[in-house]
Amino acid sequence: SARGPRAADLLAWYDRHRRVLPWRALPGETPDPYRVWLSEVMLQQTTIAAVKPYFLRFLERFPSVEALAAAPEESVMSAWAGLGYYSRARNLHACAKAVTEAGAFPDTLDGLRKLPGIGAYTAGAIAAIAFDRQEAAVDGNVERVLTRLFAIETPIPAARPEIRRLTQSLVPAQRPGDFAQSLMDLGSTICTPKRPACALCPWMAPCEARALGLQETFPRKIKK
Ligand code: ADE
Repeated sequence: SARGPRAADLLAWYDRHRRVLPWRALPGETPDPYRVWLSEVMLQQTTIAAVKPYFLRFLERFPSVEALAAAPEESVMSAWAGLGYYSRARNLHACAKAVTEAGAFPDTLDGLRKLPGIGAYTAGAIAAIAFDRQEAAVDGNVERVLTRLFAIETPIPAARPEIRRLTQSLVPAQRPGDFAQSLMDLGSTICTPKRPACALCPWMAPCEARALGLQETFPRKIKK
């Protein structure tokens, strides 16, 4: 295509189709780092539908990061029971203590990366969504979108550094948090693994895989 994908086209789509989720700030609201962090940790290996009731109950029981830090380990584990991957809950509690000790959430990628249970994806998501940092948050959905946009022939996982670089190159100075969430929404609702809804995609025109009719064949995977 003559021109590459523009953040502005994805953001305009997001403004019309954004999903209302309990951890998302409404337009004009300031995001709450505690809610953003809690939701991103819960969403690491769990679907939005499964996370929602846990997220809301957690907030009732532990309304702030200080309340979570002060809670006994057993009450955190029992509020988490059913979500699985229990190391996430132990890291969450350790992280709440570290943040409370420090007095606030770190507001940079590097600061966030040092917290227990926070990897590259989660640090990027929190930095962008909670602190409007110009950072990328690349999960499996975002990898699929990017490998299709740029028809990346290198298989996953070898393609990851290139995917990260390309994603970062698209992040706009304005609204990086909305951009991160719009990419997640595009990947989970339009640019799906099977039968992607290309006709509804704000990035149909610049999508290289779509131009080749090969959208479903990306990302390339190593044959086992
Ligand atoms: N998956 C992980 N984080 C998400 C978010 N903030 N919005 C939608 N899906 C997500």
